[in-house]
Amino acid sequence: MDQRPTTQARDPGRAGDLRIAPSLLSADFGMLAEQVGEVAPAADWLHVDVMDGHFVPNVTIGPPVVASLRRHTPLFFDCHLMMTDPDRYLGDFASAGADGCTVHVEVGRTDELIAQMRALGLRAGLALNPDTPFEAVRPYLRQVDLVLCMTVFPGFGGQSFIADVMPKVTQVRAAVEEGSLPVDIEVDGGIDITTAPTAASAGANVLVAGTAIFGHERPWDAAEAIRSAARDAPPR
Ligand code: DX5
Ligand code: ZN
Repeated sequence: MDQRPTTQARDPGRAGDLRIAPSLLSADFGMLAEQVGEVAPAADWLHVDVMDGHFVPNVTIGPPVVASLRRHTPLFFDCHLMMTDPDRYLGDFASAGADGCTVHVEVGRTDELIAQMRALGLRAGLALNPDTPFEAVRPYLRQVDLVLCMTVFPGFGGQSFIADVMPKVTQVRAAVEEGSLPVDIEVDGGIDITTAPTAASAGANVLVAGTAIFGHERPWDAAEAIRSAARDAPPR
């Protein structure tokens, strides 16, 4: 597929602002456009989970689905690539209309992957599994737009939030503030109205939620409830 950057970048918002990113993983895949349309007024970004059956044991969706959804919504697409070889697909995601891509630091070749995302006009994110330490991302903080601290081991929706990740979130926040860096800090996994305030207090500002939003009969209300809970979180 074509490797040219997309011409129309959607506004990601200001780094550090609270954002709610519903995760498509828990939506009804038979009616994705409708589900996205329903939740869009209450969402800032749409989180798109891409699993390759290798880096994680599950397989989900790829660039053709992103391209189809692109025609139905102007939402910012935050693509989380749980893949061993993201370099083979980044161009396809950019062409399909992804706005930001996040690759895992555990797959290595991080400098090259960040350079590739930049060349494609993508916002660049770096994800860490729950047991990957802050030190793994520290050298790249000046090169990325987003750090994703996984609050579950990637691969499946509906898992329980791992609170032990919170000190790492706080470490990332402290480093970002110390350097006055325009970097968003995202958490993903087990986020709901109870855990969102915990994550926000620790320093996260982009909250991904799948089950808590699309598992709710009124997904837009669930997204707003998570936003309110995070907004009311006590400061660190
Ligand atoms: C997990 C995915 C998450 C997942 C979160 O591998 O990266 O984005 O959709 O789902 P919940 O909110 O159900 O934990
Ligand atoms: Zn995700």
